[in-house]
Amino acid sequence: MITTIPLFIVGIFLASHLPFVHGTINRQRIVRQFSPHRNASSSTTPMQVGNGNFAFGADVTGLQTFLPYNILSSWAWHNSSLPTTPGQTSPADFTGLDWWTHGRLVPYDQPNPAEADISQWLIANPQRINLGRVGLWFGGRNISESDLSGVSQDLDMYTGTMRSTFTLDGSSISVEVVADPDTSTIAVQLQSDLLNSGHLGVFFDYPYMTGVNKFEAPFVGVWNATANHTTSVQASGQKAQIQHDEDTATYFTMIQWNDQASISGPLSGSHRYILQPKGCTEFSFTVTYSQSPVFEEDMDFSSLSASSSDWWKHYWESGSFIDLTQTAGAASANATELQRRIIQSQYLLAVNEAGHDPPQESGLTNNGWYGKFHAEMFVWHLGHWGRWSKWYLLERAIPGVYERFLPSSIQRAQQQGYAGARWGKQSDPTGRSAPGAINSLLIWQQPHVFQFAEYEWRAFPTNATLQKWERLLVESADFMASYAFWNESTGVYDLGPPMYPVSENTDPNATINPTFELAYWRFGLNIASHWQRRLHKPIPPSWTHVAENLAPLPVENNTYVIYDGIPNMWHNSTYDEDHPSMLGIYGWLPPPAPPTFNLTLMSNTVAAVYATWNFTYSYGWDFPLLAMNAARMGDAQQAVDFLLHPAFAFDEAGYPVGGSRVPTPYFPGSSSLLFAVAMMAGGWTGTEGVQFPEGWTVEAEGFTPAL
Ligand SMILES: *[C@@H]1O[C@H](CO)[C@@H](O)[C@H](O)[C@H]1NC(C)=O
Ligand SMILES: *[C@@H]1O[C@H](CO)[C@@H](O)[C@H](O)[C@H]1NC(C)=O
Ligand SMILES: *[C@@H]1O[C@H](CO)[C@@H](O)[C@H](O)[C@H]1NC(C)=O
Ligand SMILES: *[C@@H]1O[C@H](CO)[C@@H](O)[C@H](O)[C@H]1NC(C)=O
Ligand SMILES: *[C@@H]1O[C@H](CO)[C@@H](O)[C@H](O)[C@H]1NC(C)=O
Ligand SMILES: *[C@@H]1O[C@H](CO)[C@@H](O)[C@H](O)[C@H]1NC(C)=O
Ligand SMILES: *[C@@H]1O[C@H](CO)[C@@H](O)[C@H](O)[C@H]1NC(C)=O
Ligand SMILES: *[C@@H]1O[C@H](CO)[C@@H](O)[C@H](O)[C@H]1NC(C)=O
Ligand SMILES: *[C@@H]1O[C@H](CO)[C@@H](O)[C@H](O)[C@H]1NC(C)=O
Ligand SMILES: *[C@@H]1O[C@H](CO)[C@@H](O)[C@H](O)[C@H]1NC(C)=O
Ligand SMILES: *[C@@H]1O[C@H](CO)[C@@H](O)[C@H](O)[C@H]1NC(C)=O
Ligand SMILES: *[C@@H]1O[C@H](CO)[C@@H](O)[C@H](O)[C@H]1NC(C)=O
Repeated sequence: MITTIPLFIVGIFLASHLPFVHGTINRQRIVRQFSPHRNASSSTTPMQVGNGNFAFGADVTGLQTFLPYNILSSWAWHNSSLPTTPGQTSPADFTGLDWWTHGRLVPYDQPNPAEADISQWLIANPQRINLGRVGLWFGGRNISESDLSGVSQDLDMYTGTMRSTFTLDGSSISVEVVADPDTSTIAVQLQSDLLNSGHLGVFFDYPYMTGVNKFEAPFVGVWNATANHTTSVQASGQKAQIQHDEDTATYFTMIQWNDQASISGPLSGSHRYILQPKGCTEFSFTVTYSQSPVFEEDMDFSSLSASSSDWWKHYWESGSFIDLTQTAGAASANATELQRRIIQSQYLLAVNEAGHDPPQESGLTNNGWYGKFHAEMFVWHLGHWGRWSKWYLLERAIPGVYERFLPSSIQRAQQQGYAGARWGKQSDPTGRSAPGAINSLLIWQQPHVFQFAEYEWRAFPTNATLQKWERLLVESADFMASYAFWNESTGVYDLGPPMYPVSENTDPNATINPTFELAYWRFGLNIASHWQRRLHKPIPPSWTHVAENLAPLPVENNTYVIYDGIPNMWHNSTYDEDHPSMLGIYGWLPPPAPPTFNLTLMSNTVAAVYATWNFTYSYGWDFPLLAMNAARMGDAQQAVDFLLHPAFAFDEAGYPVGGSRVPTPYFPGSSSLLFAVAMMAGGWTGTEGVQFPEGWTVEAEGFTPAL
């Protein structure tokens, strides 16, 4: 049985696009059914509370008592000191490399061997700061996790509350932790007789950031370089403020508590401070990390606990929802597992990937690529917010990040002799794209703006939407039209060389006219033209000329291949183990218009990928990409099989396992899962409504068709 419940939207659309949904699914029951539970710390993933701009990762005690899981934010970044190598002492000394591009030398931000030190500095800086560590202090005794008994940790995702209970030497301890929805604050409540006897308190500690490692997982920062950074404390009444200075970065920890307690430290040779309660069996406190040393009023455990509950209740009850739990019979175990992945992903994405900047691949859990974020991943990370009608979270970052990066992207295009704006790739909050061959030669980030804009237009077909995106689309399309190279001999526009395609595994100087990028270019330019039409403005002739005369999709042996002229594509193991992007043109993207596109060739390509691809080596968003293609091909069973593929794993708390290539968590797996599920719940243009296999019972509310 498959039903689609119509979505009733009552009240008014607020400026923040916050629809109130009145569906029939008991969302609270389903969310709570999948609450993560642990009885020991995981060695790879924390349990987290947070708000999208700030996240606190805990071990099984609810704090960071035994394992230094991380406290990351969207605002705290650190620069190591600049190199002192003569001629390489400032970012301005970096010049990159010039590569021949259709008969002219074009500058690319690539590491230059003659400027190795400043090139590496620009790659590794700034890094995202791990703000510190907050753990239980056992009166100076050296307690380890194995000294505890009766350990139990639960995360109530419906209220954003983490609860741990355990026993030490016969005394029970309970720890409850929530995060403020608005600031970088946790609130903690402790209950134990050990508080009364002075044997239980809280420690605060600080690591040093180095930029030495591209990936820092599961723990971020160096704890023993205590001489390289400084901390100091000021305390008064029931408040204390710790200042942390590391090189040019400074931030503050603002601690507030109830009852009697005193703070001391740092313990010698460390940056460790102890908050020791006196004469109580219940003690609560708040910890705020901030760029400025200002204490928020009325911050206590009960007020933050209430605001956390309110925020999360609204989160779950607004937007779209899908219930697969009524599925009975043979498919029921798979339906339950898919539902678990969906719910736990929804929780983790709101904690890790709902900030004012797009997220890094590991969200706010640990640092990958130095904590920087990748423009070609923006749609994978963030597109699902719109598809699940949680526009108020999407609009924290989109389109603001594009507006902020527009001037530097226009400059990038100009320096390379192109019109419009060329979006960067691996970025920090200033919009600087880290030096790299792939970073400077990838192009599929460019049309993402059109996908964001078109989905928003479908949801909010207003003049405000048109105006909001107009400039960004015009600048993006201008670059796309000028980047396409008019090939006199073939009479078509070529993409590349040099370039890297989605799969990043071909020779950039040989890569020309890749299937996915050609389809995405045409998709983007067509939307650019629609937008102008909707605005009653003229369409620049260059856009139309390029869109209509782009090279045809490359076909060999009756299949679409990665790029035009790729040698021996289906018989070379180099090519069968990365993102199968050819399938993205029919599934993730709507079908390109014929004669560019031929469904028989697509079908052959699907068969060739299934026959040759090493899916064991695939990871992250590959599986949702494959699922969306399978769904559009009409094979919903194959689609859910991909979403449950053994190589596409989620741990027991919902963290997407990185696998052999990237550290855990690799959140594009979670966000693309939700993107694909939204497509299967709402269908797509021309095939609307729920698209799940026979035998599944699906109740879906609030989904709209994909493009
Ligand atoms: C701890 O959790 C594991 C895995 O969920 C379970 O198999 C085991 O029985 C639990 N142990 C206790 C003592 O609860
Ligand atoms: C790091 O240094 C770069 C280059 O000077 C600068 O643009 C950026 O703002 C700095 N970031 C931080 C967080 O200090
Ligand atoms: C591509 O060509 C440029 C010259 O334009 C050369 O410097 C570069 O090394 C080549 N790259 C590869 C990967 O062959
Ligand atoms: C604390 O105990 C652990 C395990 O029992 C041990 O490995 C560690 O060296 C001890 N640390 C100190 C400072 O005594
Ligand atoms: C810090 O620990 C690392 C890794 O164990 C070690 O290589 C390094 O020498 C230590 N540094 C100091 C200053 O103790
Ligand atoms: C700490 O500073 C010293 C002296 O400048 C330096 O040699 C060392 O590499 C620094 N440690 C780290 C972990 O950056
Ligand atoms: C946009 O505004 C124009 C007048 O400026 C109006 O004619 C048109 O209907 C509006 N379009 C939408 C989608 O609101
Ligand atoms: C096309 O098929 C022939 C014969 O099987 C093979 O030699 C050739 O490498 C194939 N082309 C591609 C692009 O795989
Ligand atoms: C496979 O492709 C890679 C990359 O283009 C190339 O270096 C290699 O020689 C090819 N191997 C075969 C057997 O064709
Ligand atoms: C699609 O491709 C197949 C296989 O090459 C061909 O037989 C068929 O005519 C093509 N269809 C169209 C509409 O071009
Ligand atoms: C497929 O990838 C896995 C994981 O990296 C690897 O162990 C295996 O050897 C690969 N299989 C083939 C046939 O290349
Ligand atoms: C459940 O999912 C697995 C993994 O995709 C698949 O192999 C299996 O056939 C599915 N079972 C049913 C009954 O759909």
